[in-house]
Amino acid sequence: MEYHHTLVHLLALFAFITLAHGSRPRLEDAAPRIVEHPSDLIVSKGEPATLNCKAEGRPTPMVEWYKDGERVETDREDPRSHRMLLPSGSLFFLRIVHGRRSKPDEGLYVCVARNYLGEAVSRNASLEVAMPQISWQLALKIHPPPSFLASNTSSYLLPSLIPNILPNILPSLRTGL
Ligand SMILES: *[C@@H]1O[C@H](CO)[C@@H](O)[C@H](O)[C@H]1NC(C)=O
Ligand SMILES: *[C@@H]1O[C@H](CO)[C@@H](O)[C@H](O)[C@H]1NC(C)=O
Repeated sequence: MEYHHTLVHLLALFAFITLAHGSRPRLEDAAPRIVEHPSDLIVSKGEPATLNCKAEGRPTPMVEWYKDGERVETDREDPRSHRMLLPSGSLFFLRIVHGRRSKPDEGLYVCVARNYLGEAVSRNASLEVAMPQISWQLALKIHPPPSFLASNTSSYLLPSLIPNILPNILPSLRTGL
């Protein structure tokens, strides 16, 4: 009889654990963890770009992107968007949009991965849009500054020289030199 008694107790205990379990996280579930962070990018306007993000967790976390603190709208919300949220969690830009007035892509990005156990935020990654074609390095290679500027003074004298240099280099750039 003692044995039977123990068995009943064990069954009751088992039932209790099973019921209690329902309201708790399953043992194998895990809060999100970012395993691949986005890196800083410098991209030319009109070019495609990808900000990487990969998160682990159980259930599989949902990934969202934020730029300068605001949620980034992707093709998931607007199929015509030039930003696509890839299944991996990465953010893919079909082309970087960068106009005189509208600069929707340049900024500081983070990805956020969430499941019911919590959320994880990635490192900050900056996306910068590179100046088109003409760089000052190239301009100075074509028209080197006078030798008296070759010392370390050139870096702060240069801005005042730009109006003088620009008219000189523009014709050479136009002729494709
Ligand atoms: C990311 O940048 C924001 C805004 O500059 C700052 O408040 C935050 O601490 C940064 N986060 C990390 C992880 O560096
Ligand atoms: C660069 O300029 C600074 C300020 O004029 C001067 O103190 C320094 O010695 C210079 N360095 C070199 C390498 O010429």
